[in-house]
Amino acid sequence: MKTFGFALIGCGGIANIHKEAIKNITNAKLVGVFDANQSKAISFAKENEARAYSSLEELLHDPMVDIVNICTPSGLHAQYIIEAAKAKKNVVVEKPMVIKEEEIQEVQRVIKENGVKIEVVSQLRFTESIRRIKEAIDNNELGNIKNVNYIMNYYRDEEYYSSSGWRGTWKMDGGGALMNQGIHGIDLIQYLVGDVASLDAKCETVMHHIEVEDSALINLTFKNGATGYYNCNTISKPGYPRRIEFIGEKGRIVLEEDTIIEWNVNSKNDLTSNESKLETGKNFLALPYEYHKLQFEDLIDSIINNRKPIVDEYEGAKAVRIILAAYQSSREKKRVILNEN
Ligand SMILES: NC(=O)c1ccc[n+]([C@@H]2O[C@H](COP(=O)([O-])OP(=O)(O)OC[C@H]3O[C@@H](n4cnc5c(N)ncnc54)[C@H](O)[C@@H]3O)[C@@H](O)[C@H]2O)c1
Repeated sequence: MKTFGFALIGCGGIANIHKEAIKNITNAKLVGVFDANQSKAISFAKENEARAYSSLEELLHDPMVDIVNICTPSGLHAQYIIEAAKAKKNVVVEKPMVIKEEEIQEVQRVIKENGVKIEVVSQLRFTESIRRIKEAIDNNELGNIKNVNYIMNYYRDEEYYSSSGWRGTWKMDGGGALMNQGIHGIDLIQYLVGDVASLDAKCETVMHHIEVEDSALINLTFKNGATGYYNCNTISKPGYPRRIEFIGEKGRIVLEEDTIIEWNVNSKNDLTSNESKLETGKNFLALPYEYHKLQFEDLIDSIINNRKPIVDEYEGAKAVRIILAAYQSSREKKRVILNEN
């Protein structure tokens, strides 16, 4: 069995989850790391028995590397995806895939042109609770979904933004509560309920000293006629579990963080509780590695079997486009219709 060589770009917070996930995959190995801060790369490499590359070129020329994991600030994702794809490396990129419409189109073009595969991290799709809800919706157990409500009352302190120069900036974070934290929920609701047709949004900076929003409200209409309300912020001290309510013709499912707290489907309330492993309302790195692992395994399997990864360059673009539409709506104070892409 071939062992897939992984190399990480960016040795900060999320890189620890990536290396743990890689370590736990039988046919995967972390071969090397690169960081603009060379001393970070050296100590990360030493701790993980990997190689520290002194340049991106060195990483991209290493024949041991099959998959490049991009764990840098979000504003750098596009350039690293493009460079890795041109070097014929497959890619794992952290969310958001990229932060601008031009970047989406360029990434989709370059991935196709170079015949490589990309998996965009959307780890919540891989949790037990979301898989169970997806199955119920696909089996029509809820009937047509009529309404979805999402509340993300998170808290990030001033230190969270000021300790890392890129967070809370348009250039490197691509936005705030929506593009950084809220993207997970946006991805889930479009994955579970369907494509968004139009939206109205109000994005504001109400508490932090940052240039991007720390609070956003979106009113959504889906192409299948469902409506929805999306409320996300990083101002709710001390930070609470995220909550999603799915209302269908035949019942209601309520999810809190990754615990299903109500399963009222077809008039049956057969809730079998699962313990939440997530506490991201308070701490952005309180993440288990298992769901990243499932995504990396999906990418490996897609390479072996030459099929699309589950969250490829088209799937990964959907949440970004909804968020860009929300920013446009808030800026221009008008309802935005989403294009077919
Ligand atoms: N999936 C999730 O739930 C989740 C959670 C946290 C972060 N993230 C994403 O992960 C990415 C990184 O976030 P983080 O919190 O780990 O950030 P971080 O600031 O902790 O780490 C970023 C690392 O990138 C390095 N870096 C900066 N510029 C670079 C460059 N030009 N080339 C190479 N390396 C460079 C920094 O030195 C640092 O080590 C972001 O895109 C973020 O949205 C995802």
